[in-house]
Amino acid sequence: MERNITINRLMGPDCTIILNELLEGYENNDEIRILDLGCGKGLTSIYLAEKYKNAVIFAADLWVEATDNYKFFKEQGYENRIIPLNTSAENLPFAYHYFDMIVSVDAYHYFGTDKLFFKEKIKPYIKENGLIFISVPGVKKDYDNVPEDLSKKISEDDFKHFKSIDYWNNILKESIKEIKIEEMKCFNEAWDSWLATDNPYAVEDVELLKADGGKFLNLIGIKGKI
Ligand SMILES: C[S@@+](CC[C@H](N)C(=O)[O-])C[C@H]1O[C@@H](n2cnc3c(N)ncnc32)[C@H](O)[C@@H]1O
Repeated sequence: MERNITINRLMGPDCTIILNELLEGYENNDEIRILDLGCGKGLTSIYLAEKYKNAVIFAADLWVEATDNYKFFKEQGYENRIIPLNTSAENLPFAYHYFDMIVSVDAYHYFGTDKLFFKEKIKPYIKENGLIFISVPGVKKDYDNVPEDLSKKISEDDFKHFKSIDYWNNILKESIKEIKIEEMKCFNEAWDSWLATDNPYAVEDVELLKADGGKFLNLIGIKGKI
């Protein structure tokens, strides 16, 4: 995809770079259904449609209008393979055991940090042995409050969504088989791509990343099976 299209639709650290690492080595040519949960402006949905040529992608998001994403998917030639919808992860409008795979990049931390959320709100919609690929921004260890170094650059409200690998492991390990949770390698590359845009949120994030200086923040990849 042309860089200027990506730039216009990024909403945070580059989700295409993150997804590239998250799905590395996972190929599939079957006619599968994929839920792209919290798809934002649809970049990851296009990535999934390109990588999995026979898949149908359900591009679900709360804040971004389905009509905006539909226009984008149509322009990119994917109107028949990517289905845009506005919905909340709290209350998904699908049949149980419907998806072969769920992908969520830079969104799950907004709604999924309660212990039972995955088990009750997400797991029922995925098939037995269906695959989970989630990436969230996180922290190297858990904090009750924003660390002082970051306190002028991020609000308590935003920071509270950032959790450690141990935290995610504790709340997900009983619901996900063969769970693997790791710090992702693409942190710098994904953030640099976002910070190079002139999006006003990226301009603010430049200061956050400077204050962080590699001490607190990370990107976490969560993989496993139902
Ligand atoms: C930082 S944006 C990232 C979007 C996209 N995944 C990306 O990486 O470009 C976070 C997204 O999470 C979505 N989101 C937040 N709460 C949600 C919820 N309860 N259900 C579905 N999506 C949600 C928002 O609509 C927003 O588009």
